[in-house]
Amino acid sequence: MPALEHAGDESTTPAEKPLFGKYEVGRLLGYGAFAKVYHARDVHTERSVAIKAINKQRIIKGGLTANVKREISIMRRLRHPNIVRLLEVLANKKKIFFVLEFAKGGELFAKVAKSRFSEDLSRRYFQQLISAVGYCHSRGVFHRDLKPENLLLDENWNLKVTDFGLSALTEQIRPDGLLHTLCGTPSYVAPEVLLKKGYDGAKVDIWSCGIILFVLNAGYLPFNDPNLMVLYKKICSGEFRVPRWTSPDLKKLLSRLLDTNPQTRITVEEIINDPWFKIGYKEVKFHHDYLELKADDEDDDYYSNSDSDSVSDSGSAGTVSGGDNLKVMNAFDIISFSAGYKLSGLFDDGEYGERFLSTAAPEKIIETVVAVAEGEGLTVVIKREWCVKVVGGYNCNFVMTVELKRLTEQLVVVEVRTKESEVGSSNRIWKDKIRPGLSNLIYKTGPAGCC
Ligand code: ADE
Repeated sequence: MPALEHAGDESTTPAEKPLFGKYEVGRLLGYGAFAKVYHARDVHTERSVAIKAINKQRIIKGGLTANVKREISIMRRLRHPNIVRLLEVLANKKKIFFVLEFAKGGELFAKVAKSRFSEDLSRRYFQQLISAVGYCHSRGVFHRDLKPENLLLDENWNLKVTDFGLSALTEQIRPDGLLHTLCGTPSYVAPEVLLKKGYDGAKVDIWSCGIILFVLNAGYLPFNDPNLMVLYKKICSGEFRVPRWTSPDLKKLLSRLLDTNPQTRITVEEIINDPWFKIGYKEVKFHHDYLELKADDEDDDYYSNSDSDSVSDSGSAGTVSGGDNLKVMNAFDIISFSAGYKLSGLFDDGEYGERFLSTAAPEKIIETVVAVAEGEGLTVVIKREWCVKVVGGYNCNFVMTVELKRLTEQLVVVEVRTKESEVGSSNRIWKDKIRPGLSNLIYKTGPAGCC
C-alpha cells in the first residue's frame, strides 16, 4: 500500500504503487501540523502534481465537515493564472487528498532570501498577488493565511498562490492560538487578528500583502522580534521604517497597506488605482468559470466514515468548449462512455448514472429537463446552456444533475446523475417520473449506472 495512505503518515518514503492507480507519489515538498504535501506524477499523462494529504478523522471530529465541503466547492471554481489550481479531490478511509497544480519554481521567498528584489520586480510580483487576491475576494473567498510558504513560482517564474479557500480548514482545526504560533510565523498576521477583535477577511489579506510587498523590496520583515509578545506589540503599533532605497510612491502605498485600522486600510480597488502599483499593470481577463455544476455535489463522500476505499471528484480540467459552450468529448470521454467502463465504484451506492445520446439541440434538452422536473415539483438550482441541477423530493433528498457534452455536430451526450439519500431509491424519481418525460429526446442509450 502506498505510504501516503497510512493513517499516521509517519513515513515519507515514496509510494511503491501509484496512489489510486494514478499518482506515483514522490518526495515530500512540505508539511504543517495537519497536512503533508508531496510531489507526484500522473502515471497516464506524466504530468507533475502536488498532493496535499489531510487527516479525515480530524476534520470529522472537529465538526468541520461542512466547512471543508464548502471550501472544496469554492476552491474548485477558482481559475486564475496566479492561483494554484485544485485539479482533483480524492479520499480513502483515512485521508483526503487535494491534487494540486505543481508549481515547479518552488517558493518565491527562497529567491528573496538570496537577495532583495528591485522595485520593478517587487511590483511585478505584487501585481500578480493583488490580481489573485482581488479575483478571490470578488468571489467571496479570502485566504486569511497569506505567508511565504503559500507563494510559489511556476516554470516561467510567475507567482502562484496556493491554499486559497483552504485556510478555514487549517485555521479552524488549530485548537488555540498557542498552536497557531507553532504552525508558523505570526509576522504576516494583521493586528485585528492578534487582538481577536473579529475581522474582515479581505482587510486581513491586504495587510498580509503589505508585509509581503515590504519583504520583497526590503529583504527583511517590517515587524520582527524573537520574543512573541514584543513582536505582537510591534505589529499592533504599526510603526515600521522603510529602507532608504524605497521610492516615495512605494513608501506611501506601504503605509496605506500597513494601516493598523482595517476600516481605513486601502482596498483592492484603491490598490489597482495606486500610481506606484499601476505602472505596467495588465489586468487579467478571465474565462467564465466552467464546470461549476459538479462543484456542489458528490462532496459528501469525502467525509463519510464508510468503508469504501476511495472516491474521486475530478473536474474535467483540460477539456475544450465547443462553439455552443458545450464540452466537446475527447478520446478519454468516449472510451469511458463505452459499456464495460464502469466508474460507479467511485461513488456511494446512493448514486445512479445514465447516459443517452440525443439529436435535439442543447437548449431544447435543457428546457425539456427543466419543464419535466418542475412539472414533478422539483426545484432547478443551477441552469446553464450545458448543464442543469435540480433538487427535490422528501426533505430535498433527491439531487439530479444533467450535463451535456457535444459528441458530433449532430449528437449530444446527455449524462444524468441522480442521488437520493433514501437507500435503494436512488433512481426512482428519475426512472419513474423524469425519464419518461424525456423519451422524445433520446436517440440512443448508454449503459445504465455507468457514471
Ligand atoms: N508545495 C506546496 N504546494 C506546492 C505546489 N502546488 N507545487 C509545488 N510545491 C508545493
